[in-house]
Amino acid sequence: MNDDKPSKKVANQYERGYDYTKYWDNRDYENAAEHIAIRRLLKGKHFSAAADIGGGFGRLCILLRTFSDKVTLAEPAATQLEAAKEVLQGTDIAQVQMQADDLKFADGELDLVTMVRVMHHIPEPSAEFAEISRVLAPGGTAIIEVANYGHYKNRRRHRKEGTPMPTEPVSIRTVKADEPDAIAFVNHNIDTVVGQLEAAGLRLESKLSVSNLRSQKLKRALPKSAMIAAERATQRYLAKSNFGPSIFLKLRKP
Ligand SMILES: C[S@@+](CC[C@H](N)C(=O)[O-])C[C@H]1O[C@@H](n2cnc3c(N)ncnc32)[C@H](O)[C@@H]1O
Repeated sequence: MNDDKPSKKVANQYERGYDYTKYWDNRDYENAAEHIAIRRLLKGKHFSAAADIGGGFGRLCILLRTFSDKVTLAEPAATQLEAAKEVLQGTDIAQVQMQADDLKFADGELDLVTMVRVMHHIPEPSAEFAEISRVLAPGGTAIIEVANYGHYKNRRRHRKEGTPMPTEPVSIRTVKADEPDAIAFVNHNIDTVVGQLEAAGLRLESKLSVSNLRSQKLKRALPKSAMIAAERATQRYLAKSNFGPSIFLKLRKP
């Protein structure tokens, strides 16, 4: 734990009256797509101690508990932890306040770490990746979801414009930050992130392209079951070209 270093920027945007549980109304397809991806990446494996970093109100923790004897929801925002109390009521999932660059776990304490929908808040993730690598035991697994700038639509747009794909994170904030210290919203270049993970000692094993049909038009046109079936059929194949808006990376600490 980095006791000698102050935590860098505090990820407190979720404390500002924003009800993240409501974000998931009407997003059954995206939620199902992520559950499919995690099941697929962890299929046939069982872990002794897992943590979901930046796990919010615990949306994925109950699924993770089916793969691990112990699960900790590791989340910096008190509002999210408050919401988690209800979501995770009656489970044995631990709920602990912490930020990804200062994890309250001992070296090698975990054999599974997940971090989903958090990378879009972390433009420069080296400190967070170093922490994840530190708390993982040798042979441990990490699943890190990355908001992908290089998805199909952006690649097509850059081709049309004749501009190169950026290798650095790109801000996708649609409204002006309400305060100077407001949390970042970025999309990443997947190859850059894989390089940063490698530098932290985490080796890429496989990846999936997720939420490949994320489009209001498609959602209106197709039944949910068809969307989910198509998602299931395409996650592996489309990962080769980093097609979708969300890439799930499965990493191993050698
Ligand atoms: C979009 S929510 C995703 C929550 C959850 N992972 C999920 O997929 O449902 C982003 C979460 O990341 C947390 N977060 C933001 N910055 C963080 C950081 N530096 N370390 C850990 N968590 C962070 C927020 O508090 C919030 O709960």
